[in-house]
Amino acid sequence: MDEHKRLLAANRAWVKEKLALRPDFFERSIDSQSPEFLWIGCADSRVPAEEITGAGPGELFVHRNIANLVLHTDFNAMGVIQYAVQVLKVRHIIVCGHYNCGGVKTAMSHQNVGLLNKWLRHIKDVYRFHIDELEAISDPQQRYDRLVELNVIEQIYNLAQTSFIQECWALELRPQIHGWVYDLRTGLLKDTLSLGPGDPIDDIYRYEITVAPNNPRIIPVTRADGSKTENSE
Ligand code: CO
Repeated sequence: MDEHKRLLAANRAWVKEKLALRPDFFERSIDSQSPEFLWIGCADSRVPAEEITGAGPGELFVHRNIANLVLHTDFNAMGVIQYAVQVLKVRHIIVCGHYNCGGVKTAMSHQNVGLLNKWLRHIKDVYRFHIDELEAISDPQQRYDRLVELNVIEQIYNLAQTSFIQECWALELRPQIHGWVYDLRTGLLKDTLSLGPGDPIDDIYRYEITVAPNNPRIIPVTRADGSKTENSE
């Protein structure tokens, strides 16, 4: 019953270690954050964003859910993305899936998981979009791996299809969006697809962009390293 105490003890040890390295470690990050990356990953405990990328506090703005989905009706994800793009002015968005993802595996089966059916249904859609390619793969593990990759790529397009990313691409020439897959078997990240300003998207998903020179959302931010983001004004 006391397993959680191990985490609290580890926290105290971590504080001690950080303060030994830098006495102002905590004070300097109190007032603001200016991460360069938004990380959208799977909630899976085996894919800890900071640990596998060597990122420290203040570097990644993180959103995680089951099977790293970016759904336009998910106000939680949309709120995180809008805030990261418009206020934090991230330069990169990373969607990171992983092989052996339980969410993707369940979506490939006929298993009835109640409410989660509604969530995983979007992965079944990805399967349907690519059914010819997937069903041509005879090895079940390879087909599973490929669906993990295709699911990440679909989320990259879902991001590109939001009005606020299209606005930011047009006005501020950022962010770059990257689709990565983490391999639990090797610990390595694989790059799949990147999209950024100027890349084509299906016309039906394109929104009109209104250039508002005094748009209060478009304000420059200064990074921890002293650099400033580009401002369209
Ligand atoms: Co997963």
